[in-house]
Amino acid sequence: MAALRITVIGTGYLGATHAAAMAELGFEVLGLDVVPEKIALLERGETPMYEPGLDELLRRHVPGFEGSSGRLRFTTDWAEVGAFGDVHFLCVNTPQKHGEYACDMSYVDSAVASLAPHLTRPALIVGKSTVPVGSADRLAAYLAAHAPAGEDAELAWNPEFLREGFAVEDTLHPDRIVVGVRSERAERTLRQVYATPVAEGSPFVVTDFPTAELVKTSANSFLATKISFINAMAEVCEAAGGDVAKLAEAIGYDDRIGRKFLRAGIGFGGGCLPKDIRAFMARAGELGADQALTFLREIDSINMRQRGQMVELARQALGGGPFLGRRVAVLGATFKPDSDDVRDSPALNVAGQIHLQGGQVTVYDPKGMDNARRVFPTLGYAPTALDAVRGADVVLHLTEWREFRELDPAALGEVTKARVVLDGRNALDPELWRKAGWTYRAMGRPTA
Ligand code: UDX
Repeated sequence: MAALRITVIGTGYLGATHAAAMAELGFEVLGLDVVPEKIALLERGETPMYEPGLDELLRRHVPGFEGSSGRLRFTTDWAEVGAFGDVHFLCVNTPQKHGEYACDMSYVDSAVASLAPHLTRPALIVGKSTVPVGSADRLAAYLAAHAPAGEDAELAWNPEFLREGFAVEDTLHPDRIVVGVRSERAERTLRQVYATPVAEGSPFVVTDFPTAELVKTSANSFLATKISFINAMAEVCEAAGGDVAKLAEAIGYDDRIGRKFLRAGIGFGGGCLPKDIRAFMARAGELGADQALTFLREIDSINMRQRGQMVELARQALGGGPFLGRRVAVLGATFKPDSDDVRDSPALNVAGQIHLQGGQVTVYDPKGMDNARRVFPTLGYAPTALDAVRGADVVLHLTEWREFRELDPAALGEVTKARVVLDGRNALDPELWRKAGWTYRAMGRPTA
C-alpha cells in the first residue's frame, strides 16, 4: 500500500502539534494556514505558544534543520493541499461566539468551502475540531455537493483530546483514538494513519458521526463535572469545618472515582473546557435535552462562582473593607501550569476583579507574562515572585506552577507586609508556610 500523504488544515495549537506528530509517525505532511505569518514562524521551527517539546518536534521534521527528516512542509495554497493529500485533517478552531454560548463554526465552514473545489481525487477529510453534534452530517452533505471527486471525497470525525502542556505526548501516545466513520474504507484509512499508536496500545474506538462528536464534548463535560463537584464539596467543607483536600484524597482511592481532577480551588479555565461546556449547553438546548442543559448550567455556574469566592476570601483577609489602596500579590496568570495560555484564566480573572475594585495588584507568572500584559495591560507586573510579593498586604496563589511550590516562605516573609497567603489551587504545603509564620488559607480547608 502506498504511504498516505497527509495535510493538516489550521496550524494553531491542535494543528501544529498534529502536523508534527504525523511527520514523527513517518508520513509526508503538508500544513496549511491562511495566516502567512504563522507559516513563516513554523518554517523557522517555532510556535507562537509555549508548549514543552513542540518546537523540538517541529525541528526534527521541518526542512533546513540539522538531521531533519524534511517530511513537514507548510503552505497557504489550497490547490497544493488538494493535490497533495490523501487524508486532510481539519484542525481549525471553534471559539465561543461573541456574546453567545454557541460555538462559532465559521472557521470550519470556510475551511471546508475552500478545500472542497480542490478535492478532485479520492481523499478522506477528517474533522478534529470540537464541534456541536450534527456538524459532521452537515459537512458531509456539503462535501457531497461541492467536491469534484463526489463520494470519493469522504468525511470522518476524529476528535482530539490533547491537554495543553502535554500536547506532544498526548498526540503521540493518545489514551484512545475515536473515529466516527460511515464506511469501511474510511475506517481502514484511519487505522493506517494511527497504526503506530494502536500497535503501542492506544484503544481504537469506531463510532458513527454523532457519537464521535459527543465523545469529545462529554469527556470535557465530565472533567468539568469532577472539578465543579469537588468545588461544591469545598463549599460544604468550608461551612462544616471539614478539609476538602483530605476528602478528595479519600474518595479518590476508590477506583471508580479516581484521584485526578479533584483539586478544589478557583476552578477550570482555558481555551477548551469553559467554551466547550457552553457550546454543549447551547446545543443541548437546541435539541430539547433540558435535563442535560440544567446539569451543565450548574457545572458552569459553580465554576464561575469560585472566582468570586476567591475575591471575597482576599477581601476578608484584608479585614473586609474595600480593596482601594491595598497591595495584592498574585502568583500565576495562566489558566494552568506549563502553559503560557491566559484564555479564560481564572487567575487573571481574579486579579482583574480585584484591580477593578481598586486593589493594587502585582502579578508574576513564569511563562504567561507577555500574554497577560496583552489582555490586561493595566495590571501591575513584576519580574519575579519575590518582587511581586514585596510590600504586599496579601499573597494569592492562583496557578499551581512548580516554581511556586518551591518558593521559600521564610524569604518571602522578609519582604511582604503581612504574611497572609491564600492558596486558590490547594497546591502549596500549608505546614511549610505556617511554620514560616504565614497565615495560610485555602477554599474548603480548615483555617489552622
Ligand atoms: C482540556 C482537556 O483535559 C483535554 O482533554 C481537551 O482536549 C481540552 O481541554 P486543557 O484545556 O489543556 O485540556 O486543560 P486541563 O488540564 O484539562 O485543565 C483545565 C482546567 O481545570 C485548568 O484551569 C485547571 O487548573 C483546572 N483544574 C484541573 C482544576 O481546577 N482542578 C483539577 O483538579 C484539575
